[in-house]
Amino acid sequence: MSRPSPDPLFRALSRRSLLRGVAAGAAGALLVGCGGYPAEEGAAYHPWRFPEGEAAPERVAAAAAILASNPHNTQPWLFAIAPERVDVFADPAKSLGAMDPLAREMHLGLGCALENLVLAARAHGREPTVALLPDPGDRAHVARVELAPAEPQASLLYEMIPERHTNRGPYLDAPPPEGLEAQLRELAGSDAALTFLESDADKAAFRDATLDATRAIIDDVEMREASHVWYRHSADEIRRHRDGTTLDATGNGAAIRALGKRTARPGAKTAANFWLTATRTTQTRASAFVILSTDARDDRAQQLRCGRAYQRMHLWATSEGLAVQPLNQLAERQDREQELALAPEMTERLEALAGRPGAQFLFRIGVPWEDAFASPRRPLEWVTR
Ligand SMILES: Cc1cc2nc3c(=O)[nH]c(=O)nc-3n(C[C@H](O)[C@H](O)[C@H](O)COP(=O)(O)O)c2cc1C
Repeated sequence: MSRPSPDPLFRALSRRSLLRGVAAGAAGALLVGCGGYPAEEGAAYHPWRFPEGEAAPERVAAAAAILASNPHNTQPWLFAIAPERVDVFADPAKSLGAMDPLAREMHLGLGCALENLVLAARAHGREPTVALLPDPGDRAHVARVELAPAEPQASLLYEMIPERHTNRGPYLDAPPPEGLEAQLRELAGSDAALTFLESDADKAAFRDATLDATRAIIDDVEMREASHVWYRHSADEIRRHRDGTTLDATGNGAAIRALGKRTARPGAKTAANFWLTATRTTQTRASAFVILSTDARDDRAQQLRCGRAYQRMHLWATSEGLAVQPLNQLAERQDREQELALAPEMTERLEALAGRPGAQFLFRIGVPWEDAFASPRRPLEWVTR
C-alpha cells in the first residue's frame, strides 16, 4: 500500500515524541491532553492485548473483529466460530434505539468488525472469502467468512488493530498532509465515495451543520436518552458491562476526567451539554472532514462495505500517527428525519456538504495533541454463539 509523502511540517508534527514534548511543556497541557491521570484498567480492557491467548486463526480473527470501531461502543455483534469459517450476526439487543432507528449505524459497525476479521485471518494463515447477507431468511446473519488455509500475509493495517482508538481530544491546527485525500480514496476503493473537506469555508460549513445537528439531537429527548443508556460512568459499570462510552474516551484532559470520576453519574441532559461544549470547542476542529457515501443509503450490503472502508482508513491513519473521530450527528438526524417523516432539514444540509445524497459516515482527521485511551470490550466468550 502506498503512503502519502507528508509535508515537512506534518512530518515534524506527527513525531509522537515531539508532540508529547510540546504537550508537556504547554501551559495547561493537562487540561487539554489525556495524560497525567491514569485511565481505567482491568478485564474490560484485556481484549486489547490481542492476539494474546488465542491460537486458532478463526478465533484470532473474531478476537480482532471485537476491537473494531462501532456505534456508541454497543458492540452489536455475535460470532459463530467453526473450523475454517466464522459467521457474523447482528445482535438486535444492542440497538441504539432512537439514535439509530434504521439500524444503519449498527451495520456500519458490523462492517468495521468484518474488516478487522478479514485482516487478522490473512495475517494468521487463512484466505477469507466473504459472503454478505448469505441467508435471505435471516437478515441478522450479516456475513459468512470462509477461511481457507493459506500463507500468512501480515499487513500494516493488521498491525494497527490493537493500536486504533477513537480520538475525541484536541487536534493541532495543521493542514492535511500532502496526499491524504488520495490515500483515503485508495483505501475506500469501490466500497464508498468520498468527499474531502479541507478549505476553511467547507470546514466552517461542516462545523456549523454538525453543531446544529448536535443541538437537534439534544433537544430530541428520545435521542438524548437513547444515547445516555450507553454511558458508563463508574469503574464498576465498566467492569460489569464492558461496553459503552466512558469518561476516559471523551478526549477530556486529566483534570476533567479526574473530577468527573469523583462526581455522581450525570443525568442525560448534563452529559449532553458537556458533549455539545466539547463538539463546539474541540471536536469540530481538524485538518479535514471526510464524508463517506454510497448510492443506496438503506442498502445493508452497502452499509457493511462502507463500514469496512472506514475501518481501513482509521487503521491506516493510526499507522501514520493521525487521529480520527467519527462525527455522525448529521447522518443520525437524517435517519431520525426519515423515521419520523420530519422536514428534511439536516438531510438537505448533509447532501449539500457531501455534494451528493447517500451520506453514510462522517469523520474528522488530524494531528492529535495526545494519544487516545482504549474503550472497553466484551470478551470473545460473551459474543460467541
Ligand atoms: C457507525 C459509527 C458511528 C459512530 N459515530 C460516532 C460519533 O458520532 N461520534 C463519536 O465520537 N464517535 C462515533 N463513533 C465511534 C465509536 O463511538 C467508537 O468506535 C466506539 O466507542 C469504540 O471506541 P474505539 O473506536 O476507540 O474502539 C462511531 C462509530 C461507528 C462505527
